[in-house]
Amino acid sequence: MTEQTPPEQVYLTPTPVRIWHWLNALGIVTLCVTGIQIRFPEYANIFGTYKAAIRLHDIAGITVSISFLLWIFYYLVVARNIAKVYVPTLADIKSGLFQQAFFYFFNYFLGKDNPHTATPDNKFNAIQKVTYFMTMFLLIPLVVVSGLLLMNIAPLRAWIIAIGGIKFLVDAHYLLACSFFAFLCVHVYMATLGHTPFAHFRQMWTGWEKMEHTG
Ligand code: HEM
Repeated sequence: MTEQTPPEQVYLTPTPVRIWHWLNALGIVTLCVTGIQIRFPEYANIFGTYKAAIRLHDIAGITVSISFLLWIFYYLVVARNIAKVYVPTLADIKSGLFQQAFFYFFNYFLGKDNPHTATPDNKFNAIQKVTYFMTMFLLIPLVVVSGLLLMNIAPLRAWIIAIGGIKFLVDAHYLLACSFFAFLCVHVYMATLGHTPFAHFRQMWTGWEKMEHTG
């Protein structure tokens, strides 16, 4: 048996962020599945009645909205590092994106090291930063606002007309939902690319990431 240095661990994801993440994941997956029945009722009858699908869709939408508030409160008021963690730097855009893509497309398959080492204040690589930034600051707010408008068509009629009408709102909400579905597929695949396939999942459950020992 060879002697090995025990793997160091770093606490990357605090409890409120993990609670937000898994509530949000459950909510978004439920929104996608119920959304399929609502959009294509003639092909998909997953939850019995159309009304049941809408009810569950509304509950999941409210869950995602409330958990988003928890996420923003935690990062803005408690951790106060939202910009450091989520906003890509110029170096991320100029070279980080390319380096990280090169790793995911080539070097990962050659068993080489990830060019990015996660720390609590710099836990995302350039690709994660750009993707999570767009998801959290653009996609989620837009899907929440469009969903809330669709849940309250009569009282918010004037606002719906002001942004382009009900057809525009329905199509925009559907396009956002498709973007979430695409994000989810890529996100879950990318989450398996840690030093073991479940390393990142474990981290998102316990908060602790085992650091890879190189050299
Ligand atoms: C079945 C669904 C999901 C699974 C299995 C999953 C898995 C993971 C894992 C393993 C991580 C940690 C590693 C990493 O950063 O890549 C993570 C982080 C993250 N995920 Fe997910 N995810 C899911 C759904 C979602 C959804 C629906 C969203 C947003 C709409 C999302 C947004 C994020 C964000 C923003 C982080 C970083 C959180 C932080 O540390 O601040 N995830 N996810």
